[in-house]
Amino acid sequence: MTLKERTQVGIVGAGPAGLLLSHLLALGGVESRVVEVRSRAHCEARQRAGMLEPATAQLLRDTGLGRRLDAEGLEHDGIYLQFAGERHHMNFRELTGRGVTIYPQTEIVKDLIQIRNANGGIAEFGATDSEVAGLDSDLPELRYTDAAGQRHEVSCDVIAGCDGFRGICRPAIPAGGLRTIALRTYPFSWLGILAQAPPSTDQVIYARHERGFALHSMRTPQIGRLYLQVPADDDISQWPDDRIWDELSLRLAVPGWHLRTGPVLDKSITGMRSFVATPMRYRRLFLAGDAAHIVPPTGAKGLNLAVADVAALATALIGLLRYGRSDLVDAYSDTCQERAWRATYLSWWMTTMLHVLPRQDPFDSALQIAQLRNLTSSRAAGAMLAEIYTGGAPVRFDPSPKASPAAFLGPESLVPAWDDSR
Ligand code: FAD
Ligand code: PHB
Repeated sequence: MTLKERTQVGIVGAGPAGLLLSHLLALGGVESRVVEVRSRAHCEARQRAGMLEPATAQLLRDTGLGRRLDAEGLEHDGIYLQFAGERHHMNFRELTGRGVTIYPQTEIVKDLIQIRNANGGIAEFGATDSEVAGLDSDLPELRYTDAAGQRHEVSCDVIAGCDGFRGICRPAIPAGGLRTIALRTYPFSWLGILAQAPPSTDQVIYARHERGFALHSMRTPQIGRLYLQVPADDDISQWPDDRIWDELSLRLAVPGWHLRTGPVLDKSITGMRSFVATPMRYRRLFLAGDAAHIVPPTGAKGLNLAVADVAALATALIGLLRYGRSDLVDAYSDTCQERAWRATYLSWWMTTMLHVLPRQDPFDSALQIAQLRNLTSSRAAGAMLAEIYTGGAPVRFDPSPKASPAAFLGPESLVPAWDDSR
């Protein structure tokens, strides 16, 4: 027998976007149900992002998610850019007044599940056969079979597609419902490891090397997170741990510096693409996070974009479902796309400047070095990187009936990032 149920917002996906949306809606008095194909343990352990913009961290603090973030997050003034055997510190705090925070996505997901459970939220992990139906009606349905085999059909005022790049919501939009899909696939991937090895750096290193890009990040003072550019179709079985450490040591080398190694706890290869779907809405279906746009991880924007999307979406849905306002939902897509394209620009720029193409010619290599020299020697050029990397625009969540369209919708690019009066 199928259970027929009702909720205000049906949320597909319990990644950071879906879980945070559910949490913010609850703060605004709107009910939701989250449906996730994977198990809770899988979602909590999936190794992804680590770097938070200040506005992301502030939103998490402002909405009751700051306790572990403040106790365990690592505050960084900036990053290192490395090329031609030289390592340069880019001091973002000095350039913009803003630093960044390392706090792993795994921990954000755990914090969100914990707070949703404590507040009586419903999240269905391990669901199968999830589908969205009736998208042209005023009461679309979220259907799924729960982990115990019970089939559910949940009528929703609104459905939020927070189901990542490979989810079901975006493909469910009828032909013509999306105006454009902008896509760029890069001819390389990232091999990422989590390692029981204390980080050999105090801040994240982005390194361009003739053999390819390498990145040294961290999760805690004991656990390192490191990445290597590898061929797009590479196979993880070709990368025993010793080979990974040898390659990282080569690409990250600068005179007098030593890379600490240790047991590899997790390793995987991820493809690199830029993707933006427009608009992020079809009638009563809204897309947020990776379901709507993907950036390559160079520049650390994906999670930050997902958080900015759902802060705007929660504000808009509370406006619609509690206060009968449609102005905020109508502006949702345009508001988020401006930020998404700015992040797409930064991550494309950093990717093309730091990675080496399969058969790169000397002209492109010399241009990359010239760009990096310019960035590390010109204060103006460094400040531009710093402004976009640390994310100039505030992330706004306002559950009040007076959520101001001006504050929420303001064309953020027109507000100078150095204007402290905002
Ligand atoms: P996801 O995290 O993909 O969550 C989508 C969820 O939907 C998943 O749990 C999935 O199982 C579920 N789902 C899919 N299909 C269905 C279905 N049919 N029914 C129900 N549920 C479904 N971003 C940063 O900001 N900073 C970083 O430092 C950074 N580093 C990264 C490093 C790597 C190697 C990678 C791969 C990504 C990185 N990112 C980073 C990007 C960031 O991890 C993503 O942008 C973020 O996970 C997006 O969150 P989301 O909730 O939109 O999507
Ligand atoms: C990470 O810590 O996983 C990380 C940091 C910076 C990036 C990408 C990933 O650009």
